[in-house]
This record gives sequence, structure tokens and C-alpha cells, in this order.
Amino acid sequence: MSQRRNLNRREFLRCASLSAMALVTGSWLSGRATSSLPDLEIALRATASEVSILPGQPTRVWTYQGEVLRGNPTSLQALPGSYLGPIIRARQGQRVRIRFTNNLPEKTVIHWHGLYTPERMDGHPRDVIGPGQSYVYEFPVINRAGTYWFHPHPHGRTGPQVYSGLAGLFLVSDDEETQAGLPSGEYDLPLIIQDRTFDTSNQLVYSTGGMGMMDGFLGERILVNGHPNFTLSVATRAYRLRLLNGSNSRIYKLAWSDGTPLIVIGTDGGLLETPVPRSYVMLAPGERIELWADFSQRPVGTEIVLQSLAFSGAEVGMGGMMGGGQPLPNGAPFPVLKVRVERQEPEALTLPTKLSAMTRYRPTDAVNYSNPRTFAVSLSMMGMMQVQWLLNERPFQMEEVAPNEKVKLNTLEMWEFVNETTPMAMAHPIHIHGPLFQIIERQVRPDQIASWETVRAGYVDEGWRDTVLLMPGERVKVLLKFENYTGLYVYHCHNLEHEDAGMMRNYLVST
Ligand code: C2O
Ligand code: CU
Ligand code: CU
Repeated sequence: MSQRRNLNRREFLRCASLSAMALVTGSWLSGRATSSLPDLEIALRATASEVSILPGQPTRVWTYQGEVLRGNPTSLQALPGSYLGPIIRARQGQRVRIRFTNNLPEKTVIHWHGLYTPERMDGHPRDVIGPGQSYVYEFPVINRAGTYWFHPHPHGRTGPQVYSGLAGLFLVSDDEETQAGLPSGEYDLPLIIQDRTFDTSNQLVYSTGGMGMMDGFLGERILVNGHPNFTLSVATRAYRLRLLNGSNSRIYKLAWSDGTPLIVIGTDGGLLETPVPRSYVMLAPGERIELWADFSQRPVGTEIVLQSLAFSGAEVGMGGMMGGGQPLPNGAPFPVLKVRVERQEPEALTLPTKLSAMTRYRPTDAVNYSNPRTFAVSLSMMGMMQVQWLLNERPFQMEEVAPNEKVKLNTLEMWEFVNETTPMAMAHPIHIHGPLFQIIERQVRPDQIASWETVRAGYVDEGWRDTVLLMPGERVKVLLKFENYTGLYVYHCHNLEHEDAGMMRNYLVST
């Protein structure tokens, strides 16, 4: 460990414990001592900054800033003129080390959303570091190619920190993806969708008063890659669009304005086996969707809008019970971004019929096939406006693990999430850290089928997921396999206001 001299005691201890862990966990780490040099080493800091978003005064934001210390310099890219980013690019099998420094005035921790990492590298809220402190994240990239992302995860402050601008992308590539022959380089575009509210001096407003803690924060305007009124200038070519919903609470029902189907090629955990067409796609907070967007048949000058369509059931207020009161309710229609075809270019690519191979889990192979672990959304009411969302009636406790939250390494399990709170029914995007999962079944209560019908055709359950949208009255079964790492991980609602208010729990993987 040649850098030992530069590490503080705490970092050194973490490195040492990682080496110890490497000896006991999974085949991926064995034989790769952490004293060996990483393939990619990045210095990353979270810091306050200013960026020009609206005409006039700059906006104060928090942002990640990075620098490549070792490895390919193009492994790190900025999102130009944005508070978001950076984009980290790694290949499957590489070992990544990220030296993180917290230059914020409060505690923070980074979670690598969708990446399967050792427990102390995953950004569990107990691993927060204070202002001025550093933490070294180091892990092998074992995920398949896909669009993963990173964001803060301090308990109770994830919502405001992400809202302030802290969110970047972690794009993984592998040989299978290379062989798929998808648009690359400038034709491979990440699009991070968020909603924000600005005051009259262009500063971000984050308020969770009134319905805010119940429904979550909803902004008044839509930003893409940190820009309002986002327009994508494209050529007459096929594009790979990687969409991330980086919003705190807003759910999108995405569709092209001219009714052309969306061609979905990937989800949270990378490419599907084959492309699937959808008239619209649901994208809940934390989720990613990848599209094949072919503009080769469109004349130069064409404009097309990616919009979010109206749907119901997303928020308590939309049910009519509380009256809502949000300027742009969750489920309201609006344009997300505009595409303008600006240049003629020859197109050589055609949509591949085969994208990737997916190992399908079989439900009967799950150790608890006949008795799935059930996680029910519940709530505790402390007066009309004081609602706390819970999982199996428990709020998050830093290290607490309930008996039904203990699993064994190397087992395939069936988990069932149930959203049957009435009358306070609303949507909850449930996210699990660690292994990605496969969605095998959805059911909805007959009395809540009406709002479900406004979204169901937009589910893409064909691929690997780390987040699943649970509509009111819905129950969803997933299959997931705990392999590679033992330890403490969290699962939670990715409505960040719900998460911050305690809608998160630990689960423990042991041998
Ligand atoms: Cu993207 Cu635990 O979160
Ligand atoms: Cu995550
Ligand atoms: Cu929730």
C-alpha cells in the first residue's frame, strides 16, 4: 500500500478491513489484494459552487468535482455547464478507487446506485464523514454494462443533498455491450431528468412543508442535465438515450409527442435481451431506462418532444382526499425535452435484434418460493398532516435488523413488496442495495385498478432492476440472489423525502 503515508488513520483502517474482507468474500476479490494498484483512481470532492441555470443571477449549488489520478483520463467526463456529474466510465472487471473528500458544511456519504459493492463501500448511512474528512471507496466493478449513478446517502439528508445538485453517473461497459453494436460516442447520450423550484433570485427552493413530507418534494420546472427548456440537437442518426430519473419524488410517464413508440433497450441493470416497444414508459425516482431513438427517417428541421403524460395514483393529494396544492402535481402532464433534427448524416446502424444474454432466475429455485419474504408499506399517523411512511411498520434505525431482514449468502430469494395502505394510498419506488433483481409478478387490488391502468403499459419488467415502482394497491414479487458479499445493506423507498423520514431498513447478509 504505497499511498499509506497519505491516508489518515481512519482511511487506513478502512483499507485494511477491505483487504481482510477480500480474503473472506467471493471469488471476485480473491487473488486481488487491495495493495495492488487500481485500474482507475479518481479524486472526488463534494463542494459548494455556483452555476448559471436561469438568465440573470447564478444559482448556488452543491456539486461533485473529480480528477483522474490513475488510469484512462477519459474515464471522467463533465456534464458541460451543469451542477450534475461527473460521469465516471469503467469497464467490467476493473478495480476502481475513489478518494472522496467532503467539502460540504455537513456530513455526507456516497452511494453507488446499482453497483454491487462490499458493504463498507456501498455508502450505508452509518459511513458518513464530516466536513473536511475523506473516505476511500474501492471496489471491483462486477456489474454488467449499464447506466448506474451515484449520489449522497446520509440518513435524513439525502433529499436536500441530491436536490442541491449532488448526482453523477457511473457508466459500466463490457464486451457483450460492445458486440451489441449500439450508437456510441456523441450518439450515446445520458439524460438526467429532475424537477426544481427557483425563487426570484434564481436560488433553489427546497421545502417539505404541508404535503411535502407526505408526497415528497415536487419542483415547478423540469430540468434535463441541469438545464431548463432542454433541447437536444441531433443528426439523422440512431441515438442511444440513457435516461435517469434523478428527481426526489417525481415520477415520469414518458412518451414521444408524435405517438411513435419508445424503443426500450435497457433498464437499471443494463441491456435487455431484445428491444421492446412501448407506447409510454414509467420512470420512477432512481430508475434508468435506455432508448434506441432513430431519427434517420426524419427530415432536417423536425422537432419532436419527449413528454410526460398524465397518470393518477402517484400522490396522496391526487386522490382528492387532501386536495394536493402542488403547482405541478405528480402525475400532471408536461414537456420534458425537445429534440431538433439539425444535421443530415448517413446512418450505418440498424436496431440489433439481440442485445444481451440474461440469466433468468426461476421462481421455483428460490429458497423461500412457497413463502416469500413480505415487505409492506405502512404508515403511522401523528395527526392529519403528520404522516410517517414505514416498511413493515418499522422506521429506519442505523444498525437495526429485524428477523425477517436476515438472509444467507449464496441464496436466491423471493421478496414481495405490498402497497396496500388505504386511504392514504400513493406510489412508492422501492430500491434495494446490493444485488439487482428480476420482477416476476405484479398484482393489484380490484378497488385500485383504475389508477394502475394509467401506468401499467409503461412498466418494463423484462430487464434487471434495482428499483421497482409500486403503485397504490399493488404487490410485486421479485427474485434476487445474495452473492459476492456479506454485510449490512439497506433497502428503501427512493422517494427521497420518504427515505429521509425513515422509509428505509437494513438487511443483513451472512454466511
Ligand atoms: Cu439511489 Cu439507497 O439509493
Ligand atoms: Cu442504491
Ligand atoms: Cu415512499
